[in-house]
Amino acid sequence: MSVPTVAPARETPPEVLAFRARFPIFEHRVHLASNSKGALSDAVLAAHREYLDSWRELGAPWHLWVERHEDLRAAFAALIGAKTSEVAVCPSVSVALGAIASALDWRDRPGIVFDDYSFPTVTYLWHAQAARGARIGRVAPDEAGELPAGRFAPAVDSSTRVVSVAHVCYKNGHRLDLAAVADVAHEAGALFVVDDYQCTGSRPLDVRSAGVDVLATGTVKFLLGSPGVGLLYVRESLLDELHPIATGWFGQRDPNDFQVERHEEAPDAARFQAGTPAIPAVFDSLAGIELVRSVGLEQIGAWVDRLTALALERLLEEGFVPATPLDAAKRGPQVAVRTHDMERAVAELERRDVIVTSRDGNLRAAFHYYNTPDDVEALVSALKEIEGLLVRRS
Ligand SMILES: Cc1ncc(COP(=O)(O)O)c(C=O)c1O
Repeated sequence: MSVPTVAPARETPPEVLAFRARFPIFEHRVHLASNSKGALSDAVLAAHREYLDSWRELGAPWHLWVERHEDLRAAFAALIGAKTSEVAVCPSVSVALGAIASALDWRDRPGIVFDDYSFPTVTYLWHAQAARGARIGRVAPDEAGELPAGRFAPAVDSSTRVVSVAHVCYKNGHRLDLAAVADVAHEAGALFVVDDYQCTGSRPLDVRSAGVDVLATGTVKFLLGSPGVGLLYVRESLLDELHPIATGWFGQRDPNDFQVERHEEAPDAARFQAGTPAIPAVFDSLAGIELVRSVGLEQIGAWVDRLTALALERLLEEGFVPATPLDAAKRGPQVAVRTHDMERAVAELERRDVIVTSRDGNLRAAFHYYNTPDDVEALVSALKEIEGLLVRRS
């Protein structure tokens, strides 16, 4: 069986090898876990040391640290085709979307519709809004495990305030057609909210052409940074109507306006920020994003698509059962494969120096610009050694 639409990777280009050389883990391990934690690069290591050096040498250089925070806003905005003023740096996706939820009033339009491929931290937040009057609607995948935009239409109507989706599913790598679901949301007058964490950094995303109103993501995975940073995009034209009540001094017009008379939110998306940022993570994550930008998302996406095509081709050849769509237009940067015991399978691969992760009965291998066809072969060889733990095609 062959995998359509994208030519599988065969040879590794020199620029991929040069990029890979910046990640020391590849000297002794095959890292296929970027959907959980991107690999550590020389650039992020240097940035982390720079933070520690600045602390050791300068004591309390908040001006430098806040400058880095602003640089991170700008770098992320540039990555997704947004303005810096449309971006907030938050501690996590959960907190970022929590600030959005705090700005929404459910009285006239109580409907929140999300898909069953959403990451649970987001669905917990939406369910919690029921205490404030919201009503939940869920969209399930079809029998083929896919989520075409048509599945959303029956669940969305004039009472829907938010349509919330995961761009790529954390369990199996299914990738949604954002622009098509955005149309469904917008036709009903709802906000289109996207959790892009399983995708950002692995392929191009232009928030405007994708019709995204609000996007939340983080820097731990394909953006190659550290935990402690969630990135939020809010379309500029929404700022007139979205005023978070979960707030703090970094969300003010002037964080240094130390007074207790009033709350004066920032005029731009900085209003969705709250307390002291995780500065070490800001240093790391800026370096991670800059590394991604130094290659460019077009180039990263094209290579990742060829690696996932190869991985699927090889898994099918060996009789394993992918849980990921074979159509390149419907998958993100991970390939998931069915197991009988996902935890043992992950542990067995770790013993063989192949780092993968698991969810929902699947073993998940994620691909980034630093991975190669040899990594795919290492994965497949290791899987063949533990084939009893894997579901086989009958
Ligand atoms: C799709 C997705 N959303 C959100 C999260 C986690 O978000 P937070 O930054 O709130 O921990 C993850 C973590 O794996 C994820 O895969």
